Amino acid sequence: MRIGILGAGDMAEALGTQWTRQGHELMIATRTNPAPLATRLEARTGSYAEAAAFGQVLLLAVPAAAALDVLTEAGAAGRTVIDCTNPVAPDWTLTTKDISLAEQLATTGAHVVKAFNLCHVDTWRLTPPVFADRPLAVPLCGDDPTALAQVQTLVRDLGCDPVVAGPLSRAGLLEATAAFVIGLWMRGADAQAILPPLG
Ligand SMILES: NC(=O)c1ccc[n+]([C@@H]2O[C@H](COP(=O)([O-])OP(=O)(O)OC[C@H]3O[C@@H](n4cnc5c(N)ncnc54)[C@H](OP(=O)(O)O)[C@@H]3O)[C@@H](O)[C@H]2O)c1
Repeated sequence: MRIGILGAGDMAEALGTQWTRQGHELMIATRTNPAPLATRLEARTGSYAEAAAFGQVLLLAVPAAAALDVLTEAGAAGRTVIDCTNPVAPDWTLTTKDISLAEQLATTGAHVVKAFNLCHVDTWRLTPPVFADRPLAVPLCGDDPTALAQVQTLVRDLGCDPVVAGPLSRAGLLEATAAFVIGLWMRGADAQAILPPLG
């Protein structure tokens, strides 16, 4: 698959490394090309718009506050966009009000799939991410069946199990879950222990 990555920070590095290993072709776009990350991954570099034109799938991996501007500049209408951003304030509340960031991003015409936002970047560096002998499950929220299928493939490429968790209208719940869980981690709580299996 051709993947355009908008941003060249930790999430871009972690997921880009995994997908390169699986044979996917990357183009990495930042505000200050060329990105050292692109050299390390032997990826193409380009502007946001060039990465959007290149990628069958885009990973939006910039700070939440910049996400809508970056995606608008890229021009991603009709493209599959993985939104891993967390619109979380320093006091672990959401920076969004009535509408999730993922839904705001979808106003650009992109086929947005919220994914990969729940776990710390170090989890995405594991090969594969397996905990207590179980592969990590990755919830996805999105509306477009083709986009969801593409992202499911990319989740499986990490050795994880994709879980289609509902339409994009539920992405705000994923964003809120991230804010809640980050708050627990920062207080030193074991977030994993909170949700035992049913029954
Ligand atoms: N780190 C985690 O554990 C984690 C986990 C899950 C989700 N996330 C989410 O993933 C996204 C990326 O996180 P990250 O940890 O990869 O961040 P990061 O390491 O700080 O990298 C962010 C990237 O975005 C670009 N950037 C910074 N400010 C920007 C701006 N104002 N406008 C446009 N581009 C800007 C930077 O590239 P240039 O300055 O070179 O343009 C940088 O490469 C965030 O939304 C975060 O909430 C992070």
